[in-house]
Amino acid sequence: MKNILEAKFVVEMGKTTANMYRLGWDERNGGNISCLLDEKEVAEYLDLNRVIRTIPTGFDATALIGKIFIVTGTGKYFKNVEEDPENNLGIIRIAKDGTTAELLWGFSDGGRFTSELPAHLMSHISRLSVDPKNRVILHCHPTNLLAMTFVHELDTNSFTHTLWQMCTECMVVFPDGVEVLPWMLCGTNEIGEATAEKMKSARSVVWSQHGLYGAGKDLDEAFGLVETVEKAAQLYMLIAHLPRVNTITDDQLQIIADAFHVTPRPGILK
Ligand code: 13P
Ligand code: ZN
Repeated sequence: MKNILEAKFVVEMGKTTANMYRLGWDERNGGNISCLLDEKEVAEYLDLNRVIRTIPTGFDATALIGKIFIVTGTGKYFKNVEEDPENNLGIIRIAKDGTTAELLWGFSDGGRFTSELPAHLMSHISRLSVDPKNRVILHCHPTNLLAMTFVHELDTNSFTHTLWQMCTECMVVFPDGVEVLPWMLCGTNEIGEATAEKMKSARSVVWSQHGLYGAGKDLDEAFGLVETVEKAAQLYMLIAHLPRVNTITDDQLQIIADAFHVTPRPGILK
């Protein structure tokens, strides 16, 4: 067996969580990540017949039976993942009953997966149904985006339009826009179901006064998506209280979309 601490999927989780922490997106235990792994790749590092313990998930993930994920632990600090992956991360497989997670590695102090597992796994189901390449769901608390949800109307179309106008690259990175959920209690199946429903039409979902969910084919893509949304929100928070002398017009947003061969989310551009 190869050393799992050297596996790309463990090393990348450490690097990503450290970057997110340094960017101020993940104070204390804020944020969580789940990444769908390739069974063959995991088998190079772990005996897949050895289940350390089972943990009930509390919801139905039948669509993901047999699938293996690396996930961050509940209550764990992103700043600590890189130095102690085995305690702060876990590798779980969805058991045959669809409602139990089999722990294959990690959570070495007896811990368990993130309290946001419903939102993660339900979102994986949604994203995989529209894009079989999707492997990552990433949640964090980006400062400017959170601030924006206090001062901007929480309508998906107008929120997306504002973000698109903040930097030329936004249309290229998230032509599908950002879906916006009102404030809801986190860590519940209800917010998981609401997030997953929104994930069918966009790869980013804002949790008002809480944070952001991003999806992607790998950690880089999900991270880059969140980074771009947060950058746009930062620009908005820098200029919102100032007179707007110049802007990117709807015609210009369409020109960007045409040039980069992306289709803007319908119903936003005039
Ligand atoms: P966990 O520590 O359970 O992952 O929760 C952090 C968080 O961001 C809740 O939304
Ligand atoms: Zn959170």
